[in-house]
This record gives sequence, structure tokens and C-alpha cells, in this order.
Amino acid sequence: MFDTATVRALLELVRRGVVYEVKGVVSAGKEARVYWGKDFDRKDLAIKIYLTSSAEFRKGIHKYLRADPRFSGKVPTSTRKLYSLWARKEFSNYVKMFEAGVSVPRPIAVHENILVMEFIGTEGKPAPLLKDLELGLEELEEMFNHIVEDLKKMVLKARLVHGDLSEYNVMVWEGRHYIIDVSQAVSLDHPNALEYLRRDLVNLVKFFSKRGLPIPSPAELLSSIRLPD
Ligand SMILES: Nc1ncnc2c1ncn2[C@@H]1O[C@H](COP(=O)(O)OP(=O)(O)O)[C@@H](O)[C@H]1O
Ligand SMILES: [Mg+2]
Repeated sequence: MFDTATVRALLELVRRGVVYEVKGVVSAGKEARVYWGKDFDRKDLAIKIYLTSSAEFRKGIHKYLRADPRFSGKVPTSTRKLYSLWARKEFSNYVKMFEAGVSVPRPIAVHENILVMEFIGTEGKPAPLLKDLELGLEELEEMFNHIVEDLKKMVLKARLVHGDLSEYNVMVWEGRHYIIDVSQAVSLDHPNALEYLRRDLVNLVKFFSKRGLPIPSPAELLSSIRLPD
């Protein structure tokens, strides 16, 4: 199931007392698998393991990393190292967002190509994604406002742009939304940051207006995000 290096990385997380066991697969994407696991207190964990095989993914990663001032000139050529860097980048994005008060799963640890975080859901069953929920107009409006608030915190406090924000990357659990999948998030000084922010806003507006919620246009939303002088 895992290649040798991934097994070694998992064992290191066990040795550090982070992971006690890996249980079922929650999601098998083309770039990463997310597993349900347990920590030593038998609390649920989400364990995201980057797969070290897809060449297309490798190309995609490069585009985001090369132009990011945080990584410029330090993008490794070895595939394994590239995936470790990508996992570390997702972890560090999660930490910055978490510390800025954005509703994301609590980041716990990262090692090599493995990221460990709080499990959103119960008993190995992940919380539903925003796209799969039937929400009333009032709930939709509340959800929209909360997500926009988070987006502002992300930009103004964490100084990051998600870059892949949509109803596919928001989980909803016990009435609360969680923004996930932040590996591609870039810092504000990335040359494409504005383009990615605009795209995120367009996705949000598309989803919520399709569900019948009257909301501002992406341009209006964008102008409501003001960086301090
Ligand atoms: N912290 C988490 N807790 C529970 N399930 C999660 C968590 N993070 C991700 N998942 C599940 O795994 C899926 C894929 O995770 P995501 O980070 O979006 O990776 P991908 O890059 O494969 O889209 C999500 O749609 C969600 O169902
Ligand atoms: Mg996703």
C-alpha cells in the first residue's frame, strides 16, 4: 500500500508519539490520499499522504513553487524532496491560517510527504463537503458571510491566498465550515496572488448565486478586502 520511504516516514511519526495507527482511506485523490488514523489518546486524525508518482502533478507544483518568494531558488529536483516540500508548504499554510483564526482543521505535524491534522467528521466518516449539502437560504447566507470573513482573515492576517477555494474544498461539520486543501495557497507577494484571489471569489460567487443567494459581485467583494496602508 505504501512505498518504503512512506512507511519509514509513518514509523517516525509513530516514534514521535503523533500517530498511533492508520485506519481506513477517506479519500483517494490523484495527488494525495487522506487516511483516518488515531493518536495515542485514540483521538481521530486525518493523515494526508502525498503520492510520489504523478508527473503532471510535479509540473503543476513547480508553477506554484518557483514564483513564491518563500521558495524561490530552493525548489528541489528530486521528486521525493519536492513532495516533502509540498507537504511542508501545506502544513505551514495551515498553521498560518489557523493562527490567523481562519476555520481550518488544526494542523498537528508534518514529516516528509505526510501531513497530520485534526479529523473533521466522526468515526472515520469525513464531514460532508459544502457542494453536497442542501442548505436553506438563511443557512446559505450565514455560511457565505463566514467564508468571506475567513477569506479576509486569510489575506489580511495570514497574508495568503487559497488559490483553490470552492465548494469542493469546504467541509461542514456541526454547523461550522472548515476550509481545507491549502497546499497551493500562495503568499500575497506571489506574482499571481491577485489572479488566484479573483478566481477564488468568482468560484464562491458562482456557487452561492447558483443556490439562489443574492450576493455581491466578485469585483465588489475584492474591493471590500482592504490591505492597511
Ligand atoms: N482534516 C480532515 N478531516 C477529515 N477529512 C478530510 C480532512 N482533510 C481532507 N479530508 C477529506 O479528504 C478529501 C481530500 O482532501 P483534500 O485536502 O481536499 O485533498 P485533494 O488534494 O485530494 O483534493 C476531502 O474532500 C475530505 O473529504
Ligand atoms: Mg480537495
